[in-house]
Amino acid sequence: MLKGKRIVVGVTGGIAAYKSAELLREFIRREADVRVIMTKNAAEFITPLTLQTLSGNPVFCDMFSLIKESEIAHIALAEYGDMMLIAPATANVIGKIASGIADDLLTTTIMATKAPVLLCPAMNTNMYTNVIVRENIEKLTARGYLFVEPAHGELACKSEGMGRLAEVSEIVEEVESILTVKDLKGERILVTAGPTREPFDPVRYITNYSSGKMGYALARIAERRGAEVTLISGPSSLPVPRGVKFIPISSAVEMRDAVMENLEASTVIIKAAAVADYRPVVCSNAKIKKQDGPLAISLTRNPDIISEIGKKKGERILVGFAMESENLIENAKAKMLEKNMDLIIANDLTEEGAGFQTDTNIVKILSRNEEIEELPLMNKAEVANRILDRVKEIITRKGFKGSRG
Ligand code: PMT
Repeated sequence: MLKGKRIVVGVTGGIAAYKSAELLREFIRREADVRVIMTKNAAEFITPLTLQTLSGNPVFCDMFSLIKESEIAHIALAEYGDMMLIAPATANVIGKIASGIADDLLTTTIMATKAPVLLCPAMNTNMYTNVIVRENIEKLTARGYLFVEPAHGELACKSEGMGRLAEVSEIVEEVESILTVKDLKGERILVTAGPTREPFDPVRYITNYSSGKMGYALARIAERRGAEVTLISGPSSLPVPRGVKFIPISSAVEMRDAVMENLEASTVIIKAAAVADYRPVVCSNAKIKKQDGPLAISLTRNPDIISEIGKKKGERILVGFAMESENLIENAKAKMLEKNMDLIIANDLTEEGAGFQTDTNIVKILSRNEEIEELPLMNKAEVANRILDRVKEIITRKGFKGSRG
């Protein structure tokens, strides 16, 4: 998602400057094009050579350096970036920007840029909570500068509190969000994810191997693309994507109820959850004791949630998944037509790198106009983007705007 994006990273003089190296690695891993500006004080904490080696580009420290003979560094850098980021951002640099001071390469570049600017403060708690710093942050926020709040924890000065640089993953997530076009703004997308658990006594249940990764990726990317997202999830150890309304459930019946409660308000429904088709007829109140011979547990059908949505969906867009181990295309197509879906995402469980638990998936996207889009092995975030591209196409083709019943 950051491939080819141009990011100017400013590093200022705080102990967290060493974390900028990790941040650069994450950007480079995502194939972003990164230029680094360091303040004089930052160079006391980490060498320009380290950041130059990691970014693969010269690091700029000097106000009077020329990028090419005819280019003035701060103007060229200000115009170069799709966005600018300062991590760590000290109280000093925040104060300077808030006061319009431009006395070094970083602050002059910030002053000259029209690109979004993200600041990631890191400092001692007393400094961070100081009313002057708070006022500066408020002032900059009101002017459209963006911030990633520091984390709470042990600080370099041995005290405990708010002020640690936010996690690198959180900063990367924010950068990806800033650089993503909000083409799903106005959509309200309901995503289901994960497995369901169907208990037959207080300590045992029937479930499946779904980790939630596919559904959580869809929720995260849809939010990033500007949609309002509700995620209804069976048990999963994954963190809830930020900005997403989260409804945890356990059984298929609970999932059905949660989906139906939220159906009316949704414009798009994506059912990535692996829902158990059956549940035990009886759930014993007491733990079932071992006994001689086999134990039989009678099962009854669970509600077919997607069929119910298909009957009530109106103009809403319904996307289902098909998890098959044979006749993938035929079975997926039959499910799509029978259950009134607009798209079905077929994943073949027998393929290496596809389906349950992996970070990747291999899917075929089937639509009602007989088209089959075959995607190669991709990580689940990329798959999510491709699915949402297809949803966006339907919205555009049908000329949908806002709510639809
Ligand atoms: O969570 P991960 O580890 O990342 O794995 C991802 C995944 C393999 C679970 C996901 O990619 C996937 O394929 N999800 C759908 C799994 C499934 O239940 O497929 P199905 O062919 O049994 O069901 C077809 C569709 O009906 C699905 O959209 C399902 O959510 C829905 N369904 C199924 C049964 C039921 N009672 N109600 C339903 O709504």
